[in-house]
Amino acid sequence: MKDKFLGRDFLTVMDYTKEEVLFILDTAADLKRKWTRREPHEFLKGRTIAMIFEKRSTRTRVSFQAAIAHLGAQSFYMKSEETQLGRGEPIKDTARVIDRYCDALVMRTFGQEILEEFAKYMRNPVINALSDLTHPCQLLADLLTIREKKGEFKGLKMAFSGDIWNVFHSNMIGCAMMGMDFFAAMPDGYEPSPVVLNKAKELASASGAKIVFSKNMDEIMEGADVVYANTYHSMGGPEKNKEQRVKDFAPFQVNEEAMKKAKDDAIFMHCLPGYRGEEMTDEVIEGPHSVVFDEAENRMHTEKAILSLVTY
Ligand code: CP
Ligand code: NVA
Repeated sequence: MKDKFLGRDFLTVMDYTKEEVLFILDTAADLKRKWTRREPHEFLKGRTIAMIFEKRSTRTRVSFQAAIAHLGAQSFYMKSEETQLGRGEPIKDTARVIDRYCDALVMRTFGQEILEEFAKYMRNPVINALSDLTHPCQLLADLLTIREKKGEFKGLKMAFSGDIWNVFHSNMIGCAMMGMDFFAAMPDGYEPSPVVLNKAKELASASGAKIVFSKNMDEIMEGADVVYANTYHSMGGPEKNKEQRVKDFAPFQVNEEAMKKAKDDAIFMHCLPGYRGEEMTDEVIEGPHSVVFDEAENRMHTEKAILSLVTY
């Protein structure tokens, strides 16, 4: 199975099969065990990894840099505007130059096509550290967390309340792939990417998962095993009409009342950063169901897995 990964880009989980995603999770679980026992796992000793970020980040940046250090490699973090990209150097030139120095590129950006352009001009792998369309590294950590807490995916129900954006798309794909029902809040005027939705429907018909968009918070939360919240105003476009979005999504807040509809042993997840009082309340994120910091930790373990699998 390992041979299947070498040199591959990780731009979206839609490019990987269920078996491959499960293998990444198994690799992450193994690396997590090694890290917990303080066993060395310098599988990328001497490698160099470039990181270009066009948006803010705490978790993704630090988890990748920690992961790269633990793997024995060196990371170079660059804010896009501090590179020549910021003054308009063509991506195809930057990509080919970075490819000569570095063994992989981790990139956070806006359009998915920017990542695709880097991938086209680099021989070494490009890893999506969040685009407007998807957040595949977040999804790997989310899946690892769900598997750790619930043991298996099949038959679980996820209730999702958050922006119809990258994290929504990733979770919809993850649920459909793994056979979890995905019940999501969908106010009027919002809709997912048709490309991602079609892929999710295809995966769901193979796995038996349901994909349901609803305006009824009771229906969304009823019997949920996993409750997932995300901001209503993501970085990039959605930030601009923040007030309207907060209003549109207000009926879908994950508060203690809403959590009562979920199963007693439901877990509460959030990719973070979160806005207390908007998509969730302080009581919920600080409460007994919350696994948000285990989820954040798993970013590092799953990123180690993907890096060690795809880097030459
Ligand atoms: N969840 C996540 O990607 O967080 P950051 O924006 O802090 O990287
Ligand atoms: N949807 C969020 C995720 C942040 C990690 C955003 O893109 O802002």
